[in-house]
Amino acid sequence: MEDNKIQELNTSPQLAPPSAGGESIHVFAPATVANVVCGFDVLGFAVNEPGDEVIMRMTNKPGITISKITGDDGRLPMDPAKNTVSVSVLHYLQSIGRTDVGLDIELHKKMPIGSGLGSSSASTVAGLFAIKTLLGDTADPAKLLPFAMKGEEMACGHGHADNVAPALFGGFVLIRSYEPLDVVRLPHPAGLWCAIVFPDVDVPTREARQIIRKNIQMKDAVTQWGNIAGLVSGLFMNDIDLIGRSMKDVLVEPVRSMLIPDFYKMREMALELGAVSFGISGSGPSVFAFTRDEETAKRITQKLQQHLTNLKIGSNTYVSTINDAGPKVIG
Ligand code: HSE
Repeated sequence: MEDNKIQELNTSPQLAPPSAGGESIHVFAPATVANVVCGFDVLGFAVNEPGDEVIMRMTNKPGITISKITGDDGRLPMDPAKNTVSVSVLHYLQSIGRTDVGLDIELHKKMPIGSGLGSSSASTVAGLFAIKTLLGDTADPAKLLPFAMKGEEMACGHGHADNVAPALFGGFVLIRSYEPLDVVRLPHPAGLWCAIVFPDVDVPTREARQIIRKNIQMKDAVTQWGNIAGLVSGLFMNDIDLIGRSMKDVLVEPVRSMLIPDFYKMREMALELGAVSFGISGSGPSVFAFTRDEETAKRITQKLQQHLTNLKIGSNTYVSTINDAGPKVIG
């Protein structure tokens, strides 16, 4: 098996014996930038910040409870039958025949919901990584991917993997195929920085998917697959110029950019300030730029934030390298 090809999604688990309760774990899972401009639904990468946190405790009573959610302004369901984290964890427990397990979940949202930064994916991946670790399941983390995709389906009506896969594996990820699922980790230049700006307007993924054109022209398809191939080649070749000139989207961005305040002005500003590329993060409204250094990334976030403030739009900004680690136990 090639090292960078994540296969054997159904590896048998080696599980710890049933717990008497009381054990707990605190897990962080990262935000992700899906699509990476030209790779709608097939490319994504993880960043170091922001990210979500889950604290999971074993209890003596079988079943899942959610005792606390913070950082969501009351928008997420506390009902474990309706929350994507608990539902994904339950699917995982059912798959390994462990519905005897009792769990309590605390979810701490550290990023805005509906931001285009893979908010629901970060929470779901944190929950799945927490239960897998608590149970001492040593199987390949890739086996969690289908459960995380179920969470996405619940959150936005479509089980795309370009947020959950990079949140779970870290780094840059290609979804080569959905049926059958074939996920490939890609290399990336070490010196690539990412500047993210989240303008405080709500763009639910479900709606941002509905406005996309259902049919495309052959000439646009040719442009798009040339760019995807160029981006992937640039990642392998450490060629940041090739990465930059390949990150163009003629299919989705022309439609979705209408949902983002002053998108084209922000792009012009970012490129003038030295960005390698600029585009929509996932389904938006967050936008991101790749840069060759931290200073340029910081300058871009400051200037774009100032521009949005002038338009009376609040924003959050993040500057990060690409996160190769994925989820991690923090307590
Ligand atoms: N590929 C998905 C979309 C990502 O663009 O709808 C959502 O974050």
